[in-house]
Amino acid sequence: MPASVDVGADLLPNVNDPAAIDAQTVCPGYKASQVKESDKGLTAILTLAGAPCNVANRLAINISPANIDASNSSWYTVPEELIPRPKIDSTAGDIDLEFDWDDEPSFWFSVTRHSTGDVIFSSENTRLVYEDQFIEFVSHLPEDYHLYGLGERIHGFQLNRNLSATIYAADAGDPIDGNIYGSQPFYLETRYFETDKEGQRKLVRKTELDERGLGSRHQYPNGGYPTNGSTGGASGGSAYESQSHGVFLRNLHGQEPKLSSDRITWRTIGGSIDLFFYDGPTQPEVTKQYLKSLDALPALQQYWAFGYHQCRWGYHNWTELREIVDTFKAFDIPLETIWTDIDYMDQYRDFTLDPISFPKSGAKEFFGYIHSKNQHFIPIVDSAIYIPNPQNASDAYDTYTRGNDSGSFMANPDGSQYIGAVWPGYTVFPDWLSANGQAWWVKELVEWYKEVPFSGIWIDMSEVSSFCVGSCGTGNVSLNPVHPPFSLPGEVGNRIYDFPEGFNVTNATEAASASSASSSQASQISATAVPPPSTTSYLKSTPTPGARNVNHPPYVINNIQGDLSVHAVSPNATHANGVQEYDVHNVFGHQILNATYEGLLSVFPGKRPFIIGRSTATGSGKWAGHWGGDNASKWYYMYFSISQALSFSLYGIPMFGVDTCGFNGNTDYELCSRWMQLSAFFPFYRNHNTLSALSQEPFRWASVASASKTAMNIRYSLLPYIYTLFYEAHTTGSTVMRALAWEFPNEPQLADVGTQFLLGPNILVTPVLEPQVETVNGVFPGVVDGTTWYDWYTGEKVNAQAGVNTSIASPLGHIPVHLRGGSVIPIQEPGYTTTESRANPWGLIVALSDGGKASGCLYVDDGESIEQEATLEVAFIAEDGELKVEVKGEYNDTNALSNVTILGVFAGIGDVELNGKTLDGGNVAYDEATGVLKLSNLNELTEGGAWQGAWSLSWGK
Ligand code: NOJ
Repeated sequence: MPASVDVGADLLPNVNDPAAIDAQTVCPGYKASQVKESDKGLTAILTLAGAPCNVANRLAINISPANIDASNSSWYTVPEELIPRPKIDSTAGDIDLEFDWDDEPSFWFSVTRHSTGDVIFSSENTRLVYEDQFIEFVSHLPEDYHLYGLGERIHGFQLNRNLSATIYAADAGDPIDGNIYGSQPFYLETRYFETDKEGQRKLVRKTELDERGLGSRHQYPNGGYPTNGSTGGASGGSAYESQSHGVFLRNLHGQEPKLSSDRITWRTIGGSIDLFFYDGPTQPEVTKQYLKSLDALPALQQYWAFGYHQCRWGYHNWTELREIVDTFKAFDIPLETIWTDIDYMDQYRDFTLDPISFPKSGAKEFFGYIHSKNQHFIPIVDSAIYIPNPQNASDAYDTYTRGNDSGSFMANPDGSQYIGAVWPGYTVFPDWLSANGQAWWVKELVEWYKEVPFSGIWIDMSEVSSFCVGSCGTGNVSLNPVHPPFSLPGEVGNRIYDFPEGFNVTNATEAASASSASSSQASQISATAVPPPSTTSYLKSTPTPGARNVNHPPYVINNIQGDLSVHAVSPNATHANGVQEYDVHNVFGHQILNATYEGLLSVFPGKRPFIIGRSTATGSGKWAGHWGGDNASKWYYMYFSISQALSFSLYGIPMFGVDTCGFNGNTDYELCSRWMQLSAFFPFYRNHNTLSALSQEPFRWASVASASKTAMNIRYSLLPYIYTLFYEAHTTGSTVMRALAWEFPNEPQLADVGTQFLLGPNILVTPVLEPQVETVNGVFPGVVDGTTWYDWYTGEKVNAQAGVNTSIASPLGHIPVHLRGGSVIPIQEPGYTTTESRANPWGLIVALSDGGKASGCLYVDDGESIEQEATLEVAFIAEDGELKVEVKGEYNDTNALSNVTILGVFAGIGDVELNGKTLDGGNVAYDEATGVLKLSNLNELTEGGAWQGAWSLSWGK
């Protein structure tokens, strides 16, 4: 297919159009009447307060539209089964938020924090606009506000104050600031306060912080606090406090929350204003309230899912796959799961195996081999389904036939089949709103598993992507199978040689000749490429009363692909129940995750499904994890991966990771070493790259192999801690990867730190994010309030000052990791796989606070079942030179305890006793200078298992 089939209309996004009408100026707003108050809230009818600015005639706020007119589907409201309406938590106390409204000069409303009088949302002096295909409402924001979320996009941690945060699920390879794969219309806002000398509580402004040398700033690449800052605290303690709240707009349409210096202007191209506010007042509380209200607590993953995953586009056959598995072993680099991209499929058709390169006969041997080593396999499954050439019986494709027979595919407005194009050629698309779509998908997975015993599924292209505008294959299906839109092995493509980013620094001469070679190739390519569409005449559609234009709505969102039909199924594609894709586009990716979840429950009854999906929506974390999409082998993408992950923490999708070492382009040993170490602290740890890029498994370079092993050793030691964090996330909605600002809410300087993060509350990670350096600047948060930090590698206490950058040595191969004083961290001796690790002896790290205290917990279960017959919950408390361990639950873990390391023991030690038995020199090593007390070889003393019952350990004088 020529590239021209994916070229849409030439549109000018309204936010970039100087001539665009400002709805705030021309629209009259509304007046309220028939106001009825009850103890549950308030209802009112809103009527236009003047001449209509367009074609509007009704309004709904925060609930649902009144008087839906069946002939006009503009006000498509979100059905409960797609995204449930957030529930009220009847166990929570009174909400600390108050709703208020007024009719002057036109209807506006506000939400105020009752306890403080702080107005957190207010549309005062702005107008509500509720047009056909266009809704706009505004809220004022305080000066220098701190907002997070509104995804999915690649952006620094904190949203900047001049951003069109377009939300429209798009197949776009990680453009910075643009809308990408998922739809997450949720934001967290944090406000910092201080109490002045008169005892008045007031908002802290950035300008004031700057004056005090405390200004938070964009942190890349150097990280940390401003260099000469102090904490701003008087003696002993932070002078600040913060409060956070969350705002969720339950709306599935294309959206454009626009952030400017003093407000958020939220626009959508359909649906209703269905706003939900969460009072917090801390980030952990906001996230828990949000996820619980949606019944979307994150899925608890199987234990093995936290092992290391290796993938690439371009593993060509079973033999190569097996070689990869064996090479990892030969280098002793842990490999838990091997993935395959579309290469395994027969002509890129879902649920098939290529008969030549991945024959069924080879599957048995391959799976027998990896399963015997407790390793796993994940295949990609694409969202589009190949439609066979009807004129060629040998092209028949059963998956299509079954889906077609059961009415499971989307249609055109005239009822004919909607035909797009993806890797296999012309394709159809599952209709998740059809009566049988989900059941058909479940069955396909169940049947395919009999041939390919996968351990989970990778869902791709689920925005849903289609490489042409409109139903491009109608009439063309007899051309199938067509050539996929990339070069096949043996074909010479128009490839621009892509040199690693650091190449021109270290190889200046070669870089010069490579860049001239590549620019000459680029000019050849551009000579043959489709000319860019003219930019002089933009398509503009005029609002027409009673008629929607779904393909080209009058308000043009700043969609990264331009026209809504480009690289996506067109908005006028129609579902079985008559709903247009326009209204549900943003949840295709969510629904395929739902269907796949059901499929895996049927394949593995009672076991937790493992799914990684590309497009997500509100609440997808209850079914699946997510990866960051098509990044590139560039340092800045490694930097952005932290903010991406933190955003997905807020959306309740903690199982997040990115294509480590970079997807597009060639990586190099330096970037890949750093990245393999950083990703080792992300919940989902996978290396993946594109077909045309050089291989980047960690064993390709000695330095990367060694750096990876170092970091994996830490990760695998921490598996019990990571698993416990997931259990807590699953049961309470807490986060796994955490921003410094969330754990240390009294330090406004941390508001924009996206260069460091915490894994759970206790592990601080300070990665190197730039080339050619041997140190990294990092901040040690909480020092102002007495928090201590210990170096993971030496156990030594960090001599950190509050509020200043600390330069930390980090030569290649070293990633700074610190433990928070006051924590007890359960660890287990790392094995080659998670299965081996789970059978190894336990250990504990007790990192004492300055006051000599620490606490922590551990959760253990069978690591795979949804319902548990028995579990173990272990609580650790240390104080006054003694650690006490309490055990609850019946799960039988028989691994012994082999060591306990206590950090911060500066008062010297007395007799060291484990359950009353004195340990001797064979077990005890104490270094007075560093305060590290190591107790080892304890296995024999705890032979029955470390958690068979309560025990205590004392070392105090
Ligand atoms: C797009 C995905 O984002 C990428 O990870 C994958 O390799 C390609 N599709 C090919 O399947």
